[in-house]
Amino acid sequence: MNNSPFTSKCTAKAIREAALALNAGHLVAFPTETVYGLGGDARNPEAVNRIYEVKGRPPGHPLIVHISSINQLDKWAVEIPEFAVQLARKFWPGPMTLILKKSNIVGDFITGGQDTVGLRVPSDPIALALITEFEKISNSAIAAPSANRFGQVSPTSSSDVQEELGNFLGADDQILDGGISKIGIESTIVDCTGIEPLILRPGAVTKSEIEETLGIVLSTKITSETKFSGSFEKHYAPNAKVVLDVDPADEDGYIAIDSIPTPVNVIRLAAPRNVQEFAKNLYSTLREADNRGIKVVVVVQPQGDGLAEAIRDRLSKAAKGR
Ligand code: TXA
Ligand code: MG
Repeated sequence: MNNSPFTSKCTAKAIREAALALNAGHLVAFPTETVYGLGGDARNPEAVNRIYEVKGRPPGHPLIVHISSINQLDKWAVEIPEFAVQLARKFWPGPMTLILKKSNIVGDFITGGQDTVGLRVPSDPIALALITEFEKISNSAIAAPSANRFGQVSPTSSSDVQEELGNFLGADDQILDGGISKIGIESTIVDCTGIEPLILRPGAVTKSEIEETLGIVLSTKITSETKFSGSFEKHYAPNAKVVLDVDPADEDGYIAIDSIPTPVNVIRLAAPRNVQEFAKNLYSTLREADNRGIKVVVVVQPQGDGLAEAIRDRLSKAAKGR
């Protein structure tokens, strides 16, 4: 029998200590089902400022507030439309963020001065346990962007977080380990401040699922780049140059669904069997390319709608470089 390398460190005591660290103004990186987040007390401006510092994120880019359940919705948001409640009932806990008119407990330091706030109830059990524990002791919630340096690829494991932020976190900050993120790309963001919902960032909760839930057809308006940092160019990008849907050259890295054969002389980095696996492994594969010093990664984009659309959204941003 080998020793047990997989013994979880996420005991009730560890969650409690992480919640206490948040309450003392420190930062805690934690797993969610989408990607890892870098959390701080959503009502503590110093803690939130440190999130920006540690990430190297320019000010004015709003943060998502992570809450424990739909019960907390009208504490952080006001004038909530019925369709937003329907979406929350259907998809929370889960990979969906709702943009709503903020309540007066939401500080400008969270929203970049806007009158809206992003709210999400993640489904990862460790995330939920942490948010719930922190809510009990602080009556607050956890503000968290993805736990990567600004513009970089989001982390999908605790070792990715360590690699991204280890040099920027302090001794009192923490990284909670919760294994590999199940989904692997960031939440679907739905703007609920207009007369109908508007998808600002596609994700694992898909357009057709939203349409089915609400019994409507969504329009596909172009989103405003000023209020939405994820829609800036130069996001989600590794050091390697990402090129889409071209014939690879010798020594290029190559990512394509497994039914596509590997061209000669390329380095096959991933051969996912379906779009779920594609999303789950995408960021770790791009990281691996960087760690192996690969200069160019050619990706054959997955076809179809739903999660494939979210993958193509991230890939097109990665392809714009940094
Ligand atoms: O899956 C996720 O959403 C992960 C996990 C940790 O929850 N979080 C995440 O956070 O991806 P971040 O900060 O990396 O991306 C959130 C995006 C940003 O592009 C931000 O501009 C947008 O959400 N956002 C946040 N609040 C907003 C608001 N009030 N209005 C419009 N966009 C907002
Ligand atoms: Mg991010």
